[in-house]
Amino acid sequence: MKFFIDTANLDQIREAQDLGVLDGVTTNPSLMAKEGITGKDNIFKHYRKICDIVDGDVSAEVISTDYEGIIREGEELAELHEQIIVKVPMIKDGIKAIKYFSDKGIKTNCTLVFSAGQALLAAKAGATYVSPFIGRLDDISTDGLNLISEIRLIYDNYEFETQILAASVRHTMHVIDCAKLGADVMTGPLSSIEGLLKHPLTDIGLAKFLEDYNKGN
Ligand code: E4P
Repeated sequence: MKFFIDTANLDQIREAQDLGVLDGVTTNPSLMAKEGITGKDNIFKHYRKICDIVDGDVSAEVISTDYEGIIREGEELAELHEQIIVKVPMIKDGIKAIKYFSDKGIKTNCTLVFSAGQALLAAKAGATYVSPFIGRLDDISTDGLNLISEIRLIYDNYEFETQILAASVRHTMHVIDCAKLGADVMTGPLSSIEGLLKHPLTDIGLAKFLEDYNKGN
């Protein structure tokens, strides 16, 4: 299972990278705005900085919603760095653009996916990743994890190569459940990754081992 961090915050990206388990980064326009990164030039510079920190895939989202605009923007983003994955919204022109990018060998992440039907279309179009937003489904009393199971079943039935990127992961249990259900990737905040470290018996056990070791000194 690949671990992506869902942020545009460089310190957090560095921290996750230093842990040695990071496989990539996802961003979106809201995450960029949260870091105060605005305007195309600054946003492009920021993507380059992220690519310099991590070894893996970095999703960079287009803001156009028409076919020509998505193609223009996506090609510019793809040229920025070889690690860039063009993030395209799940809309009609987005699907057409994903097919175009797929034929040209440009990797894509189909974002804002909330149903199995949308995920099926993304795979048919040749998306590299599909991003079902599980946390946002949970927010409206719909089972986000169930969507991961449905997509896994459909993709396995037909051996689609599109990777399921569980997005909008909010906490550590989401990570564990997505792993059980066979998501290929998860993207979440640093806290969702670091939460995997924690167990009180580990802390108690370690304190006791150190205490006993020190008795002999
Ligand atoms: C995915 O690529 C999105 O950036 C992200 O996971 C959305 O998460 P949120 O619902 O916590 O904003």
